[in-house]
This record gives sequence, C-alpha cells and structure tokens, in this order.
Amino acid sequence: MAATGDKFTKQTTAQEAVDTLADNIKGRYIVVTGPSPGGIGYETARAIATKEPKLLVLAARSQAKLDQAKADILKETPNANVETVILDLDSLASVRQAAKEISAKGQLDVLINNAAVMMTPYGKTSDGFETQFGTNYIAPWLLTNLLLPNLLKSAHPRVVFVSSMGHQFGDIRWDDIDYSKGDYDKTNSYGQSKTASILNAKYLAKKFGSQGLTAVALHPGAIPTNLGRHLEEGDIAALSSFFNEDGTPNMSLGFWKSIPEGATTTITAAFDPRWEKQNGAYLVNSQVAPLQKAGEEIPYGTENILALWADDDKSAERLWELTNKLTNENF
Ligand SMILES: NC(=O)c1ccc[n+]([C@@H]2O[C@H](COP(=O)([O-])OP(=O)(O)OC[C@H]3O[C@@H](n4cnc5c(N)ncnc54)[C@H](OP(=O)(O)O)[C@@H]3O)[C@@H](O)[C@H]2O)c1
Repeated sequence: MAATGDKFTKQTTAQEAVDTLADNIKGRYIVVTGPSPGGIGYETARAIATKEPKLLVLAARSQAKLDQAKADILKETPNANVETVILDLDSLASVRQAAKEISAKGQLDVLINNAAVMMTPYGKTSDGFETQFGTNYIAPWLLTNLLLPNLLKSAHPRVVFVSSMGHQFGDIRWDDIDYSKGDYDKTNSYGQSKTASILNAKYLAKKFGSQGLTAVALHPGAIPTNLGRHLEEGDIAALSSFFNEDGTPNMSLGFWKSIPEGATTTITAAFDPRWEKQNGAYLVNSQVAPLQKAGEEIPYGTENILALWADDDKSAERLWELTNKLTNENF
C-alpha cells in the first residue's frame, strides 16, 4: 500500500506532506493554478517541485509573478522541470488558450485548481459572469473539462479544487446566480462560488470516476496570504476576534495556519491514494470533513464541516447542466 496522509494534522507542513507522498509525485505532469509568491499555490508548487515531477506547470495571469515563482522554485530545486502558462480566469478565451498550451506539453496527471479571488466588489468577468462565480467556478470548470481528454489518459488522473469553509456562507442562487437583481453580497457570492467548486468535484467524481478520475475539493485553513486584498474595514471588524489591534492575524489563537501548513491539504488532496476510494471527498486538515447534520446550525468560524447544500447530488447535476448552458458547451 502506498504511503498515505492519514496521520496528517493541522500542523503538518507541505514539505512533510510531499516527503510522505513523494512516490505519487515523481515522474508526473502536474499543473498548479494561481502560484503567486506569498500564496498557498506557490507553497504547493514549491513543495511539489522538490519531488521530481516530470513537469510542473505554473498557470496564472501575471507573467511577472510566474517568472518570480519559477525563479524562486529553481533557486531551491535547480533541477526541477518547471514551465509557465498564462491563464486569466477572468476570460474564457484565455482559459481555452491555456488549456491548449497545457495539453501540448504532454500527458497530464494532476490538475490543481487553486487560483481564486475573495469578496471582490460587484463586477463582471470578460464573459459577463459575476466576478467571483466566473473566476472561482466557471473558469476552472471549463479548464478542467477542456483538459479532461488529456487527463483521462493518465494511469491515475486527479483534479483538485481548492474551495473554502466560506462555502458555508452561500448555496447556489438558482434564481439569480449573477446577482442581477442588485442585491449583491460579496460574502454570499464567495460562498456560492466555493459551494459550486465542491459540487463540481462531486459531479466529476460521479461522471468520470468509472474512467479512473479522482476529483477532490478542500478547505486549506485560514492562512494570511494576499487573498484578503479586497477586504474593507467593516469586514475586518466582523472578524476582529481573529486579528490583533494592528490588523495583523493573531497567530496565537490556533485558528490561523502558516503558509507551509496552509498548502498541506492541497498536497494531500492531489497525491494521497486514499481518495481513489472516497471519490468526490471534501477535505479539511487532510481528512474527510464531517457533514452538517440536518437542522444543525454551523457555528461561525467552524472550519471542519461540509454544509449539506454542498453535498447534494441533485444540485451538483443541476449546476453542471446550467454551466453547460451558460458557457454554450456540452460536456
Ligand atoms: N488564505 C486563506 O485563508 C484561504 C481560506 C480558504 C480558501 N482559500 C483558497 O485558497 C486558494 C489560494 O488562495 P491564497 O490564500 O493563496 O490567495 P492568493 O495569495 O491571493 O492567491 C490566489 C491566486 O489566484 C490568482 N488569481 C486570482 N484571480 C485570477 C485570475 N483572474 N486569473 C488567474 N489567476 C488568478 C492570484 O493571482 P494574482 O497574484 O495575479 O492576483 C493568485 O495567484 C483560493 O482558492 C482561496 O479561495 C484560502
């Protein structure tokens, strides 16, 4: 039996995780989206690079940040085979171009959909989707589907969606997914986009599991990164118990994770053989999260619970069909 991360905890670092799961990284072609320095995508990529992947592709919208990430990775692991691809999740044309470039590089084994935005002001992507739904859900959905024919040729294909405990803030708004009625709520919208990514993993597992695909979603933890760049004073006030007076995260609370700890669940999701038998799982701290009980209110700040609405098979199928319509696709 290959090594697993069943003993990993909240404190396990990404480096410890790749040390354990190294055999599942060596010789494989892996894509990580959103690996900007200072984020958990970067730490995920950095750790993977130390374990001899056949090819590691960093995909993001800024060539300057990609170059910096690649240079930093090569400083630590000079022999790593690292390439970059421009991917702007704001534009489905960019997603299509990136998918072509990623596929042209060879037989893909693992796709890690990490990139996202959080609590952005109301806006629309180039294709007219509400920013968070379009960036965090629609674009990764399309990227994944475009790469599937390639991925499914792998011996152990895997797709990972870095979701969030924030999924607890919003179910899918079936009657107005784009907030066109003018009642935009950035927290609820982030929640909707992250619920959608969990449902996406679930449906991919169901639809393509028999062809060998494993699809997993996860909450990485609460980690001080650049994700909070759109937070305003009022947002910080609502979360004030987690911050020091100067606005920095209060790391002594046991709530936050460091960046090395924050990439661990992504590594586990991508390389742990356990999920082949628990396809469609939602992970927190590298383990399957318990499901909310019917009628149970999830206390604010509870990380380790999957909301019932993100575990709903009918919603997963309905969302898939709706996304086909919204993108004029037929996956
Ligand atoms: N940090 C946390 O506490 C936390 C908690 C729960 C879930 N998460 C999830 O973890 C993942 C990584 O977040 P992080 O905390 O590491 O934040 P981050 O440092 O802001 O990283 C997000 C990445 O996504 C990229 N990105 C954003 N919009 C994009 C677009 N339109 N096209 C392509 N790339 C885009 C960013 O690129 P730029 O640098 O160019 O903006 C960056 O590389 C996200 O899915 C987030 O929702 C994080």
